[in-house]
Amino acid sequence: MDIYPYLRPYLTSLPPETAHKATLKMIKWGLTHRPKAKPPEHLQSHVFGLKFPSPIGIAAGYDPNGDIINAAFQMGCGFTEIGTITPKPQEGNLPPRIFIDHDERCIIDASGAPSAGARAVKNNITAFLNGKHRPGGIIGINIAPNHRSQDPIKDYRALITMLGPLADYICINIKPPKTSRIKGLQSSDALPDLLNTLTKFLTQSCGHYPPPLLLKLSPDLNDQQLSHILQCAADHKISGLIVTSGTSTRPQSTPQTLIRHSGNLCGAALQTLSTQMIKKIYSQTQGSIPLIASGGILSPEDAYARIRAGASLIQIYSAMTFHGPKHTDYVNNYLAEQLKRDNIQNITQAIGIDTRK
Ligand SMILES: Cc1cc2nc3c(=O)[nH]c(=O)nc-3n(C[C@H](O)[C@H](O)[C@H](O)COP(=O)(O)O)c2cc1C
Repeated sequence: MDIYPYLRPYLTSLPPETAHKATLKMIKWGLTHRPKAKPPEHLQSHVFGLKFPSPIGIAAGYDPNGDIINAAFQMGCGFTEIGTITPKPQEGNLPPRIFIDHDERCIIDASGAPSAGARAVKNNITAFLNGKHRPGGIIGINIAPNHRSQDPIKDYRALITMLGPLADYICINIKPPKTSRIKGLQSSDALPDLLNTLTKFLTQSCGHYPPPLLLKLSPDLNDQQLSHILQCAADHKISGLIVTSGTSTRPQSTPQTLIRHSGNLCGAALQTLSTQMIKKIYSQTQGSIPLIASGGILSPEDAYARIRAGASLIQIYSAMTFHGPKHTDYVNNYLAEQLKRDNIQNITQAIGIDTRK
């Protein structure tokens, strides 16, 4: 039974994090919409060597500790990205740290990546993998060192050793040098060294077939920084890019209710920045590196447009908050219908067709 629509008015009156935790519990306990059928076959695709049952996935931060992996796939998601996961548990910033404008469909995230830590996440992923009737889907993990880590490289090693063998793909976030919090390590400048190190850890922990490594890019990178990252990604055979995380800038479309809060702006006001970046990267790389779109994908139409702009897959966070757990099924159905209408056999044939025009 789907109780979410009945509880939604009450949930929106709660503090954002309380509402989010309650929603995760409802999803986990099967009290939200579950489609009867699997996603239609023409939505299946192979991206960086992995089979995705649907191009729709849950973005990092929505299920930070892997509590709803099974439910996410039952909801019709082709993949879910757990995290950001840190080696040790960390609280994140002091609340209030998430700010929402429901009318304008925007969220500011200043949570500072609270995480239950790698051990707890490992237990959750293992429980899912040991489950008898587990639905198909791809598990990505998004990792970062602890905030106060004295040795971030050691943190990465611990994360990859513990979680690498359980993950289908691994992702790290890349920010402009000034906004990177871990001594510039996650910044674009230090990227070649970091990628060398991570690749080495992955081979050590996972053998000859390590999970693909992805980079999640900030929309605040300038053209020079972006070119540098694309070069590094090509040099280090990075499997894919997630485009984009939230922005620390405040575009004109930022709602007045949110303008005074600092943090990463997500949702509708991020849409233009993220779409422009997908188009730019798809053009510059001529579609040679798979892209996962994230940022302001609020409607099924947005999802299709982002695929046609160059994304192989899409991730949603804000749409889950504003439309609820039924949204993934709704997007799957829309995409399936739209492909038929446009006479496109499989979702992969729609990738980038508008940018290539
Ligand atoms: C409350 C909140 C927490 C988030 N936490 C993370 C996180 O821990 N790691 C991460 O890489 N992205 C995180 N994100 C960013 C999302 O993964 C996504 O990239 C961003 O929200 C843009 O997508 P959207 O416009 O669909 O929300 C978070 C976003 C929100 C709103």
